[in-house]
Parts: sequence; C-alpha cells; structure tokens
Amino acid sequence: MRHILIPFFSAAILALPAHADRLPVPAGAPPAFAAECGSCHLPFPPALLTAPDWKRVMASLDKHYGDNASLDEKTRRELEDFLVRHAATDRRKAGAGDPPRLTESAWFRREHREVPQAVWRDARVKSAANCAACHPRAEAGSYSEREIVVPGLGKHK
Ligand code: HEC
Ligand code: HEC
Repeated sequence: MRHILIPFFSAAILALPAHADRLPVPAGAPPAFAAECGSCHLPFPPALLTAPDWKRVMASLDKHYGDNASLDEKTRRELEDFLVRHAATDRRKAGAGDPPRLTESAWFRREHREVPQAVWRDARVKSAANCAACHPRAEAGSYSEREIVVPGLGKHK
C-alpha cells in the first residue's frame, strides 16, 4: 500500500509552487541524524544540498568547516544514505566550497537577496548557517515569511 502511494505523493509535491517554506526533517530519519547532525547546529534539511554535495560532506567529517564531526563508519554510512535519499535534484541547490555549503547555493543566495550584508555579520546572527537567528521556528522545519524576524531589522513582513 505504501509503495502505491509514493508516486501519488511525489506528483503532488512537484505541483506545489516553487516557494518552499516547510523544510521538515523527513519522516523516517535515523535517530542519529538529530543526535549527531543536530548537536552543534540545527540538523540542516537534506533537501538543501544535492547528493554529490552530501557525499562530499560525509566523506570529510574529520575536516568539517573547521571542526571535527567524525562518526563510526556504520553511522556515517547510515546518515549518508539518508541524506542522499532526500537530497535536492535541483541544480540551483548545488552547494559551493570545500566541504560544500548550502548557504552558498544559487537557491540560498536568491532566497536571501534582500538581506543586507551587515545583517550576516551581526553578532546575533554570526553566520548564514545560523538559520534560527531569523527563522525562529527553523528547528521545527518552518521557514514561513510571516515568522521571519531579522536581528536589527525586526519582522520581515
Ligand atoms: C562537532 C560539531 C559538529 C557536528 C557534530 C556536525 N557539524 Fe556540521 N557544522 C559544524 C560547524 C562549526 C559548521 C560551520 C558553521 C558556520 O559556518 O556557521 C558546520 C556546518 C555544516 C554545514 C554547512 C552549513 C552552511 O554554511 O551551508 C553542513 C551542510 C553541515 N554542517 C552538515 C552536518 C551534518 C550532515 C552533520 C552530521 C553528520 C554535522 N554537520 C555535524 C559543526 C558540526
Ligand atoms: C539573517 C537572517 C536569516 C538567516 C540567518 C537565514 N535566513 Fe532564510 N530568510 C531570511 C529572510 C529575510 C527571508 C525572506 C526573503 C524574502 O522573501 O525576501 C528568508 C527566506 C528563506 C526561505 C524562503 C521562505 C519562503 O517562504 O519562501 C527559506 C526556505 C529559508 N530562508 C531558509 C533558511 C535556512 C535553511 C537558513 C539557514 C541555513 C536560513 N534561511 C538563514 C532571513 C534569514
């Protein structure tokens, strides 16, 4: 039954407008995803990087953006498979950098083109990867424009 429903759901998702304000952690995520990939920062939505990007992230956990996020091989493999399975297929979500950053994708830059440069450097923001600084419900996978509060600028809309 489940398998019969999947093509239907995929079609329904493709029919939605391009604006995605809901990016929840996909159902069925291994518990290690929140536990390991959510211990230093928000567990980033898998749909914000492509499969080759996630493979590069997961192949260099010992050199993880200046940190060491190494895992045992079984967990590493399990999380890589999960991330790749839910990765973006849209080329605009290809990351940049080594390891690649989702905050450097064409999609991310476009969605955030209205954010003034000074805001990214604000002490309350520190980094574009600090989603919750402006999206207070990011942890719940909600990025709705109505909820956005930009430090120093206030409510977005
Ligand atoms: C030991 C702490 C730690 C753990 C554990 C960790 N990360 Fe990170 N991660 C970081 C740091 C530090 C950064 C850089 C944040 C910044 O630039 O603001 C980062 C950045 C990232 C970025 C890039 C964000 C951007 O700027 O686009 C991705 C993607 C990422 N992590 C994925 C993961 C995944 C997947 C896991 C689990 C396998 C994980 N992280 C576990 C510390 C960690
Ligand atoms: C400095 C504040 C700030 C940070 C940090 C930030 N965003 Fe945003 N984000 C915004 C603003 C402002 C908009 C709305 C831009 C517009 O519509 O003009 C936005 C829009 C979005 C949208 C589109 C929402 C919609 O309704 O279409 C998504 C999705 C999103 N951000 C995800 C993220 C993710 C994921 C992160 C972290 C990796 C992040 N943002 C970090 C300020 C921020």
